[in-house]
Amino acid sequence: MKICRMFKMIFETHGHYDDERFDEDRDELLKECEAQGIKLIMNIGADIKSSRATVELANRYNHVYGAVGVHPSEVGDMTDKDIEELENMALDNAKIKAIGEIGLDYYYDDNPPKDVQAHWFQAQLELAKKLLLPVVIHSRDAALDTMNIMKEMKAEEIGGVVHCYSYSVEMAREFVKMGFYIGIGGVITFANSKKLREVALDIPLDRLVLETDSPYLTPVPYRGKRNSALYIPYIAEEIAKIKNISVEEVYKATFENGKKLYRM
Ligand code: NI
Repeated sequence: MKICRMFKMIFETHGHYDDERFDEDRDELLKECEAQGIKLIMNIGADIKSSRATVELANRYNHVYGAVGVHPSEVGDMTDKDIEELENMALDNAKIKAIGEIGLDYYYDDNPPKDVQAHWFQAQLELAKKLLLPVVIHSRDAALDTMNIMKEMKAEEIGGVVHCYSYSVEMAREFVKMGFYIGIGGVITFANSKKLREVALDIPLDRLVLETDSPYLTPVPYRGKRNSALYIPYIAEEIAKIKNISVEEVYKATFENGKKLYRM
């Protein structure tokens, strides 16, 4: 008997499975993800503690890899010693594939101050360049400053992904020109996602990657609940609809893109 199986290999390029909201069922969930076709998961550090937890998860699960870094909202009390620890984590663990998430977040005023965010963004870009690792960029309400720092630091030499992309089509083209991928998650399923839909239509499929930002940003119809990679099909189907292609094509291309992005 011939069994016709849909191609479904998914690369979840950005999740926080070390988050306490997964404490109760993390092991079950990560195994279920693998069974459901999520063959690669990139767990992303957001501070030193979660970067350490990322190393542990990557060492425990075959299909889990990681990025270590400090999120712009968490750099308020960062020190040079933290940079050293990030460096050692990356050097000592072959499954750490990127520095992130790093960047600028101006959503809350002065939290931390812009110059402090810029300093540690630059320092972590510097570290990524030293280690020859791609970067995972977090940027909210800070498009121009992010772009300027990335250009100053020649981020195009290392590449990476602009995760949970939320800016204009023009800006997306600029990031792509610098060799970056555009991360698309659950927001694409929201009713007010017109701008992101335009980006998904405009940017070629070979520059897009799928992500969740779990446990946050759960796609419709589960918006408000805890997110996980199990909901990635809702994101992929939305992209397929927008680009008028099959969902299999979306899975296939974004899987390859993810591997190129993280050099795996
Ligand atoms: Ni994130």
